[in-house]
Parts: sequence; C-alpha cells; structure tokens
Amino acid sequence: MAIATIAIHGGAGAIARASMDADKELLYRQALLQIVASAQALLAAGGSALDAVTEAVRQLEECPLFNAGKGAVLTHAGTHELDASVMDGRTREAGAVACVGRVRNPVLAARAVLETSPHVLFTGRGAESFAEQQGLEMVENSFFSTPERRAQLEQAIATQQTLLDHDGTLPPDRKFGTVGAVALDQAGNLAAATSTGGMTNKQAGRVGDTPLPGAGCYASHLVAVSCTGTGEVFMRTLAAYDIAAQMEYGGLSLQQASDNVIHEKIPALGGSGGLIAIDASGQLVLPFNSEGMYRGYAVADELPVVAIYREES
Ligand code: GLY
Repeated sequence: MAIATIAIHGGAGAIARASMDADKELLYRQALLQIVASAQALLAAGGSALDAVTEAVRQLEECPLFNAGKGAVLTHAGTHELDASVMDGRTREAGAVACVGRVRNPVLAARAVLETSPHVLFTGRGAESFAEQQGLEMVENSFFSTPERRAQLEQAIATQQTLLDHDGTLPPDRKFGTVGAVALDQAGNLAAATSTGGMTNKQAGRVGDTPLPGAGCYASHLVAVSCTGTGEVFMRTLAAYDIAAQMEYGGLSLQQASDNVIHEKIPALGGSGGLIAIDASGQLVLPFNSEGMYRGYAVADELPVVAIYREES
C-alpha cells in the first residue's frame, strides 16, 4: 500500500514576512491547514487521489483569500474569467474549462469534463452550458467579486499594469494567485488539479497555463504536478509535463527535474512562480523562485504542515 500524500498551494509571489499583516497571515495558515487536513482525511479513508485533489481545489475556490473561484481577480472589463483543470495519473484522462464566468466551482466542471465527455477542454459559453447540463451550481459573475479584488483592478488600471497573479506593485499580501493540489492515494495512483482567476487587468479572453494539461497541471503514473506563476511562460515551457519528461526520458529525480524547471527554465524566459509535485514513490517537492508560496502538505497520518515564506520547511 502506498503512503497517502496530499499537497496544496494557494499561489506563489512576492509574499514578504515583513509586510504581512499578522491577522491575515493567520487566516491564510488556518485556511491552508483546514483544507490540507480535510484532503488528508479523505485519503486516509481510502479515497482516490482524483477525489482528494478535486475536493481540495474546490475548497480553495470557496475561500476568498485565494485567486480562484470566490475571490478571483478581475479582467480589464471588470469581469471574472476562470480557468481550471484536473488530471488522473492512473488513466491519463484530463478535463478542463477556460474563461468561465458563471460556474461556482470551475474545478467541478473540469472534473465533469474528465468523467463524462470525450473532449478535454471547453471554453466560455460552451463550458458554462456543459456545466449547467451536468447539474453544477451556476452563479452570477459578481458572486466571485470581493472589495479587495475591485481595489486591485482599479490600482492596476490606474498604473496601466497587467498584473501577473503574483507580480506587480500591489501590496505584498495581494501578490499571489492560482490554487492547486497533487495527491498520491493508498492504491498508488496520482492526480493533480489547478484553478485560477488568472491575472488582474488581463484582457478578456486571455487564457493562461492553468487549464492546459502539461502546462499548469499534469499527472501520469510517474508524477503529479500543479503550477502557479507566469502563465505564459509555463505554457511556453510546458512546465508540468517537462518535469514528467525529464524524469521519464532523462532519468532525473523529481527534485532535479522540478528544480531545473523552476530555477532554470522558467526564469530563463522571464517567468516566476512555483509548483507542487509528488512522484509515485511518495517523494514530494514544493519549489518556487518567488519570495513565498502559500502551501501545505500531509503525509500519511502525520500532522499537516503549512508554510508561506521561503525560509520555512
Ligand atoms: N498561472 C495562472 C495564470 O497565468 O493564469
């Protein structure tokens, strides 16, 4: 029996300890802890890696602290366009949605694509119609808004910036985005899921790496990966798949392959961010090249660990 392991992230970015409000930091830590513990319990009860990552990302989408689902960032037009994907390492099946604005939990729509459709990726209105037909909860686009995200957009427009989910001149606690989860279940199967609101002040219709299998999310029999960061660069490097390829064809360890992607290939193209990944032996890595990354993990029945800053474990 494999050692069940779950890891989650709530985005990487310029998250500096010195400028983080203590109360807000506590909220982040509590949210990460509760979500990782919940996924750990699901795996301990014999649940699948696919169910664990879907449920962890659904809970991250429900939490307004993170840039996915409720609390997602806004486009230049003042709307929300959400992307999500999920991939099952056991079957290599994937499901994804992009540019959805009315599906309460985009990761559930991605999961429905994986389970019920011969296709992999639906966009916009077609994705919303599909989700509605699947009986998923639909909401008004304004459901996803928070006052903080409105202020963030106003600031981005005023300074003429298109802010990546973790960069820019926003206050440090607002420089983050994208959520994700990877898991190894007791049966030895791997899965990954990723969800995001994208980048503040993005042009309507822009899609990043999150809903693209192989870019922001990937799972096979070898490894499960969920990314956060400069979407365009993660797309151009096929970051998540590159880790799997380096392991499969180059014989690199998960640590070597993920360090190569995050500390060499992504910065070489001007990108930044991080990822979480687990291999079939239970090896877990959470590398990032930014100041911090909201993250958490739990191995078997050990106490979950959450961290934000670079110097933490
Ligand atoms: N990494 C998320 C995005 O660029 O949309």
